[in-house]
Amino acid sequence: MCGIVGAVAQRNVVPILLEGLQRLEYRGYDSAGLVVIQDGQLQRERSTGRVADLRLKTTDTHGTLGIAHTRWATHGVPSERNAHPHLSNNLIGVVHNGIIENYESLRNRLSAAGYVFTSDTDTEVIVHLIHSHYKNGTCLLDATRASLTELIGAYALGVIALDNPDQLICARRGSPLLMGVGVGEHFIASDVSALLPVTNRVIYLEEGDVAEINRDSYRIFDVSGTELTRPVQVSKISNESVSLGNYRHYMQKEIHEQPQAIADTLESVCNSTSIIPGVFGAEAAAVFSDINSILILACGTSYHAGLVARYWLEEIAGIPCTVEIASEYRYRTSVPNPKALVVVLSQSGETADTQAALNFAMSMGHIHTLAICNVAESALVRLAKLRFLTRAGPEIGVASTKAFTTQLVALFLLTLVLAKQRGRLTEEKERQHLHDLRHLPAASQKVLDMEPLIAKLAEQFANKQHALFLGRGMHYPIALEGALKLKEISYIHAEAYPAGELKHGPLALVDKDMPVISVAPNDVLLEKLKSNLHEVRARGGELFVFADAGTHICEEDGVHIIQMPEHAGYLSPILHTIPLQLLAYYVALQKGTDVDKPRNLAKSVTVE
Ligand code: G6P
Repeated sequence: MCGIVGAVAQRNVVPILLEGLQRLEYRGYDSAGLVVIQDGQLQRERSTGRVADLRLKTTDTHGTLGIAHTRWATHGVPSERNAHPHLSNNLIGVVHNGIIENYESLRNRLSAAGYVFTSDTDTEVIVHLIHSHYKNGTCLLDATRASLTELIGAYALGVIALDNPDQLICARRGSPLLMGVGVGEHFIASDVSALLPVTNRVIYLEEGDVAEINRDSYRIFDVSGTELTRPVQVSKISNESVSLGNYRHYMQKEIHEQPQAIADTLESVCNSTSIIPGVFGAEAAAVFSDINSILILACGTSYHAGLVARYWLEEIAGIPCTVEIASEYRYRTSVPNPKALVVVLSQSGETADTQAALNFAMSMGHIHTLAICNVAESALVRLAKLRFLTRAGPEIGVASTKAFTTQLVALFLLTLVLAKQRGRLTEEKERQHLHDLRHLPAASQKVLDMEPLIAKLAEQFANKQHALFLGRGMHYPIALEGALKLKEISYIHAEAYPAGELKHGPLALVDKDMPVISVAPNDVLLEKLKSNLHEVRARGGELFVFADAGTHICEEDGVHIIQMPEHAGYLSPILHTIPLQLLAYYVALQKGTDVDKPRNLAKSVTVE
């Protein structure tokens, strides 16, 4: 979702802005633009294409102060006139991430005052509002601050003024923004990956912060205008971890990084024969002994991780668990249980609906909260009482892969801790589960070795319009995840059903043009699943079965068996995810879609 980069330096900042935007491309966007002060003017370029197109348009653009933006349309279609930066009277330039909820009333007021709007965006009210204060002689910081008090909604902002060529103002509320500290130069960005070529020293701005940034200095103020000190942190994210290396796409790279990501996530338990609550935070033991149920809140792929965890938590730990889509929960009148542990799952930690759901839960009296997240500095991690950081490393592909499997690892650890606390885990079982977890990186590597086979298989899907995914039990959410991956990046309509539901509706869709992909682990539901597969075959549906060793489903005409290397017991959903990720990836390659940046989607959905 929208990305911001800004810089104030002694050197030309245009290459820094463009490189930063390119590194934020993964967030999802439909247009891009930048503005710098050049030859006494605000020199703006915008493009509805990729950042590469903007690069072509800016070969002669230069300046030592500038702001840049990738836009993901919310108010107004993707077009050059709606792309940021927005300008007011050729004096003020603004880039914005977020949504201004009261923009209509502000727009009416500003229009009446003579401001001419040239876009359909909510952002344009911000730039005119700042201008209305600035033109009266107020300094840029105060003009911005005065404007912020009138805005309702979420924002991360970068602001410049033509007659103030050495200063950048920024502010954040509800949308991520950080500052980069260089030598004699400073930067702003939506996330640290954008700034890694220029600095790894960053300041994470807090909610309500406003900063005045010059080449050699900066000042940060909180909501009430009090100047404060925020720590400069050295980001651990390396430049290498966000580069593509020899892979064709980030998604492919990230699928292959799963063995390492899982191993890193397991680091806290790698040498132990027992697991302790402390891996979820110092207060975890006390919190876990006070809970009687779990409420998981998440969106998208993270929601699917929650659905798998429900099977584990109820079966292994014997604790009741509900899983809810965050955007639904936040608007539902539900009955709070203060003894529930509210678990928010998010790869980014910035998803607006998940944040709002957690805030809503807390406002209803939930005190036990845990964030499982891949970004240490994210809003969710800061908000929750307990936290577990997955160690997937930066995930750039919009379709989440390694963040999902590492979330599952974290949730399995949570299951074990709670099972132990509730007296449901013998020492022997605990050792066995930990042993199985430690085997996961090697086991997932074996699944990755299936890549050439799956690449070949994908050829059979490229010309299909629809696909059906089936699973049972804890593999039903994996069918959901497989279907989501396929639709996200190949644009093939895919649906997932628990196989037992087949005859209650979706069987009507099955014919020779509807490929049916089935997750067939060797577990207690196998025989039931086999009957469901016969129902498909009898209607002429072509079956693609990802089968564990020992499942005895025979390859025949119209039934393709893709043999999984081993059966991983409770951890099987993690292994069965990987071939479905690869399938979606190779089908997308066949179809020639933009794998890492699928149309209309964003990596980090920071608006509602
Ligand atoms: C977007 C992304 C998905 C992700 C979902 C939830 O839709 O494209 O990959 O699963 O947001 O994001 P989160 O960061 O909260 O896990």
